[in-house]
Amino acid sequence: MSQARPRLSCERTAAWLALQSHFDSDGQHFDLRKAFAQDARRFDSYSIQAPHVFADLSKNLIDAQVQALLLRLALECALPEQRAAMLAGEMINVSERRAVKHWLLRTPRSDTSDPDAGAVHETLNAMLAFAEQVRGNPAITDVVNIGIGGSDLGPQMAVQALAEYATPAKRLHFVANVDGHELQAVLSRVRPESTLFVIASKSFTTTETLLNARSARAWFEAQGGQDIARHFVGLTVNTSAAAAFGITTCFGLWDWVGGRYSMWSSVGLPIAIAIGASGFRDMLAGAHAMDTHFATQPLEGNLPVRLALLDVWYRNFHGFTSRCIAPYHSGLRRLPAYLQQLEMESNGKRVDRSGKALAVASAPVIWGEPGTNGQHAYFQLLHQGTDTVPVEFLVARHSSHSLPGHHEQLIANALAQAQALMQGQADVVGYKHFPGNRPSTFFIIERLDPASLGALVALQEHRTFTGGAIWGINSFDQWGVELGKVLARDIVPRLQSGDGSGLDGSTAGLLERLRQA
Ligand code: F6P
Repeated sequence: MSQARPRLSCERTAAWLALQSHFDSDGQHFDLRKAFAQDARRFDSYSIQAPHVFADLSKNLIDAQVQALLLRLALECALPEQRAAMLAGEMINVSERRAVKHWLLRTPRSDTSDPDAGAVHETLNAMLAFAEQVRGNPAITDVVNIGIGGSDLGPQMAVQALAEYATPAKRLHFVANVDGHELQAVLSRVRPESTLFVIASKSFTTTETLLNARSARAWFEAQGGQDIARHFVGLTVNTSAAAAFGITTCFGLWDWVGGRYSMWSSVGLPIAIAIGASGFRDMLAGAHAMDTHFATQPLEGNLPVRLALLDVWYRNFHGFTSRCIAPYHSGLRRLPAYLQQLEMESNGKRVDRSGKALAVASAPVIWGEPGTNGQHAYFQLLHQGTDTVPVEFLVARHSSHSLPGHHEQLIANALAQAQALMQGQADVVGYKHFPGNRPSTFFIIERLDPASLGALVALQEHRTFTGGAIWGINSFDQWGVELGKVLARDIVPRLQSGDGSGLDGSTAGLLERLRQA
């Protein structure tokens, strides 16, 4: 069965109706503290060890009955069939008429007979050989990645996360925003003869990236830079546009890799330059291990599935509108932004795959900051605010620094926050009252390394897919970004001409004000 074929919408399944009636009677009154008091084995029953990632789900507002109904919902929504369709390379991205095969980018050559596997591994080998060449070239000291969205967030997040594994011989810079402050700040720190510009754009049509790339090229030439072909490399499906720009070294990708799922492709070049070919292959192997888990584990022991089902329970029954990501590792400071694009661009949709309005809510807002910083900023709201926000903690058992006392403090704080959210302080009134019973999930990795990072990201990709599959969404298009792009194209010349005709009163007024000397 393909995702394209009509099926029962989630809210019309028997499991959904049973979940609703359970929520109305008991589910909404579920109390974590009582659940732990009544079940000494709750931690064991609600923990899952997936490849590289241990997850404690026990501090979530679920019991065995909810769990069973959610698993039934997954079956009634044909999750296994939808997963099989993706993994068989069916055209599940129906609005763009594309397959969805980012998982193939990390599948060992010997494990697949997919017709694209040969080209995938050829490109991977070429990209990694180029990365090694750059790493071995002492004349190149700086690498500037110019790209936005999926062509920025994944590589940037991973390069920061894996800083301990990166060569100190290269400085990596990331320029995404069309705001010239960003590019100028980077250009002021690099020299043309020792800089490699990586122009990452799957489409090679994204306005911000093209303007930044043109400005970088103009700067390069103005500084006396020689040989654009040697100092600019392209990562794109649109090799002819890259060639027209003057780029001769290009690494391709395929239309079946969504931008936000592309860090495993040639878009991962900055990661490979930072951590080397073998580190990059370790990252792919970690992701592949999670792919295998997702593809083969029964639903009840399948971590991405269990996380997505919790998302549905919270969003559609409890009515929680956001999810907070709190990685207790400063290397993961861009993880919340990365997951924001992954979930919100994938499942932030109000229509189903056939374009029909959804009858239920879809993706929550994803936000967050690393701990312990967040504790001194937004955690107030998590503990005592009027909304309940499920929180996701992530810690590494081992750190890679040698400063005594820090890691214990970090871990203790993560544990304490999760504990405080659940326990609360119900016996006091007024401003000292903590209601408690606030849900959280706790992830543990051994250490933040290429393999565990790969597994963590693949876990989140499959969770997003599963949520979309239950809601009936196409998680792989992003039509909601188009209107703003069209309107911006119309406004640019008006900033010169001052022509406000046909604009609404507010936009015309703002245009005028911004033009005033
Ligand atoms: O406009 C949204 C988007 O298409 C994202 O999905 C994508 O990651 C980003 O823009 C960048 O696209 P490209 O890699 O084609 O420049």
